[in-house]
Amino acid sequence: MPITTCIFDAYGTLFDVSAAARTAASEPGRETLAAKWQELAEIWRLKQLQYTWLRAVADAHTDFWTVTQNGLDYALEATGLQGDGELRERLLALYWELAAYPEVPAMLAALKSAGMNTAILSNGSPDMLHGAVKSAGLGNVLDDVLSVESVGVFKPHQSVYDLVGKRFNCPRAEVLFVSSNGWDAAAAAGYGFFTTWVNRAGDPLERLPWRPQKILTDLTQIPEIATR
Ligand code: LAC
Repeated sequence: MPITTCIFDAYGTLFDVSAAARTAASEPGRETLAAKWQELAEIWRLKQLQYTWLRAVADAHTDFWTVTQNGLDYALEATGLQGDGELRERLLALYWELAAYPEVPAMLAALKSAGMNTAILSNGSPDMLHGAVKSAGLGNVLDDVLSVESVGVFKPHQSVYDLVGKRFNCPRAEVLFVSSNGWDAAAAAGYGFFTTWVNRAGDPLERLPWRPQKILTDLTQIPEIATR
């Protein structure tokens, strides 16, 4: 079945989530962070995601901005950086203007030229996602930004993936789903999307019952895969 609709995870897939800690670490007067920013970024991301899964299974939803702050507070304490309120505020502010990976604008423009529907499907709250899309200048190459907030549960709950068919009125097999999160790519493949895992870091394949159809190291080949 030909692909008609290309759906992207946001954080880590289109937007570089480690950019907040990396940028803050490069600013004057942040020598302590400069030595630890990678560890901080890794723990922040891991705890942010763990809190989404735990809240989903515990039926205790909150928005992604809250779990992003909770994950950061855990990571700041774990790396001995707690107590610097200005640093906390700076890292959170940077999360609203994360850089897109360099190949993203041309890749999305190529999909639009090929007549594809394009959208984000993300745990992010609508205001966070609109901030990131605006700051990266992607508004004119995305048809929509779909947020889990409309169903009130995080990925990989199936009701999140259901948002795609409801919005674009297409069967699952017509959807190319792209995520840098191995667990998201696996779950979306299990759901029935044609799925690509963007494995920039060379991580091992998730030991889950479902496998992505394609594995890439960046997004440049996405238009080729969508129009194959
Ligand atoms: C998202 C997270 C999982 O954007 O990266 O949904």
